[in-house]
Amino acid sequence: MNHTPSATPYGSLPPASPMPGRKPINLPRLHEMRARGEKITMLTAYDATFAAVADAAGVECILVGDSLGMVCQGMPSTVGVSLETMRYHVESVARGLQRVQGTAWVIGDLPFGSYHASKEQALHSATVLMQAGAHMVKLEGGGWTTETVHFLVERGIPVCAHLGLTPQTVHALGGYRVQGRDDAGAAQLQQHALALQDAGASLMVLEMVPAALSATLTQALPRCHTIGIGAGDGTAGQVLVMHDMLGINLGKTPKFVRNFMQDSASVQDAMRAYVNAVKNGSFPDNTQHAW
Ligand code: KIV
Repeated sequence: MNHTPSATPYGSLPPASPMPGRKPINLPRLHEMRARGEKITMLTAYDATFAAVADAAGVECILVGDSLGMVCQGMPSTVGVSLETMRYHVESVARGLQRVQGTAWVIGDLPFGSYHASKEQALHSATVLMQAGAHMVKLEGGGWTTETVHFLVERGIPVCAHLGLTPQTVHALGGYRVQGRDDAGAAQLQQHALALQDAGASLMVLEMVPAALSATLTQALPRCHTIGIGAGDGTAGQVLVMHDMLGINLGKTPKFVRNFMQDSASVQDAMRAYVNAVKNGSFPDNTQHAW
């Protein structure tokens, strides 16, 4: 007897293999994209359906970001997000992608406090997210994180670094501000970025970093591909929080966001428009979305 329900009243996932001929994204494919100058696209998603829709739209990397603390849980910042919450959402995203035979690369965000105590704690937390279905983990900050990144990479866990505005340390930074604006800040960012590449980080989110500095860092990091958010058009790829690019940010929309839903008939169309705009270089526009 077949117990698979043919339809549910709660929404179903899009058809399998949405992109004909598209192979699962992995690190060598991301390196190839960089080598041929093709921009890498990343979007956040936190559940099975949105992950499947993003995958069908051609998004290469799905970040299960701890921004879910704000957009899903209604928290004032990402600081209160727990590892168990991240595990639940990574598992939901991975399950959704598996259901549609999706090809996206899944990045699980290590939340505040889950990698700070020791390298061993970071390994434990990363293992939880990898076993939930992540292909890579992301952690914020430079300097002290370098050793942790090396420790994880040595043990076969791909790592995405995150520099510039690091939301988990918003209280120490004094707000959501552009980072690396003065010479000392720029030099420190460069030093941290190079050390993280040497430690083995394969991707690096650059958040709210001046466009010229991001472009310089990108050139200086041939083995670690920069993914910008509010960092201009000179990075190897772009990321946005899904709710922002769908125009459902209930607060003040950050300058670096474009609402792709405005001229789209569906969420999938909006995500496809985002992918196309990043690939053809029309988003971000340095005159509007960068510093
Ligand atoms: O948590 C998140 O969604 C992020 C992105 C803003 C890059 O870290």
